[in-house]
Amino acid sequence: MKEKVMLTGVRPSGNLTLGNYLGAIKNFVDRQETHKSYIFIADLHAITSPKDPQKLKEAVYNCVAMYLACGIDPSKTIVFRQSDVLEHGTLGFIMTFQTKMGELNRMTQFKYKSQAQSKDGVDTGLFVYPTLMVADILLYNTSIVPVGRDQQQHVELTRDLAERFNKRYGETFFMPDVYIAPVGNKILNLQNPLEKMNKSDNGDNKGTIFLMDDIEVAKKKIMSAKTDSLGKVHFDEENQPGISNLMSILSKITNEDFESIEKRFEGRGYGEFKREVAEVVAKLLTEIQANFNKYNNKNLLDEILANGAKKAQPTARDTLKRATKALGLN
Ligand code: TYM
Repeated sequence: MKEKVMLTGVRPSGNLTLGNYLGAIKNFVDRQETHKSYIFIADLHAITSPKDPQKLKEAVYNCVAMYLACGIDPSKTIVFRQSDVLEHGTLGFIMTFQTKMGELNRMTQFKYKSQAQSKDGVDTGLFVYPTLMVADILLYNTSIVPVGRDQQQHVELTRDLAERFNKRYGETFFMPDVYIAPVGNKILNLQNPLEKMNKSDNGDNKGTIFLMDDIEVAKKKIMSAKTDSLGKVHFDEENQPGISNLMSILSKITNEDFESIEKRFEGRGYGEFKREVAEVVAKLLTEIQANFNKYNNKNLLDEILANGAKKAQPTARDTLKRATKALGLN
């Protein structure tokens, strides 16, 4: 029997990237056979800053089709839209009240994103966003949360708040663990390998590979990735962040370890190395895009989401009930 619960989510804000796939979705797909699995589209998280409603709706469909294209199997995994399960909002509200301002102030994602917003004022949504993520995780008695390194702090906050709540009000929540894969947990921007690869890279998107990128465009992005002048294919994140990033991408897709990659490319130039990475990425994207076109059908996606919500709701309802009862609410 699958006893351990695995859960993760992605914000439907922009097209999914190679970073989303390698840092989170692939790790989830690899474990969906052995866990009771939930994956959701975090649409409530997408409205932390204003979004065009029609674009948001489309982005949700795009995200579900992409989950399926990446190998998420709805007969093994519960796939749902966050806003279909109202308990997320209510538990999120409750968990916000268990949290200190200082705890949210310390979140590096908040610090980073609020800097970009500070001209017109910072949205409260950006500030309290982690407590909604806490609720997402706790609602399903989750044991493992596969995410990229940038989300680790939010899962740690989840543990802190679950422990605090359990101490104050009695055993209510299950304690989750984060799963950060050893390779590919922070894929970097190809043009600026000191920054994470993001859905929007504030420029011409040359540093970000989108899963739906035209194959030739994606290859070009890899070929023109910033590297260094050392001329040695070697894993050293500090001194060779660009090359190390490409090695992570290659290793995560093919499962070849760094040592073996280094040996194979000894004495060969960066051009040859990049060409191989470009080919491997192109093959991956070609497969994903063929699948995407197969699954990109609104009727099918609506059915999957309706089924997913129906399956997710009872557990969410039970957990919320436990929490409200513990608090002395209804
Ligand atoms: P989001 O939508 O920013 O990213 C989705 C997942 O992709 C990972 N990721 C990366 N991993 C490696 N390298 C990168 N360059 C990279 N970029 C993104 C993220 O770490 C994440 O795992 N708050 C979350 C969504 C969320 C969630 C949750 C996740 C909401 N509730 C509950 C897990 C559990 C977010 O904004 O992810």
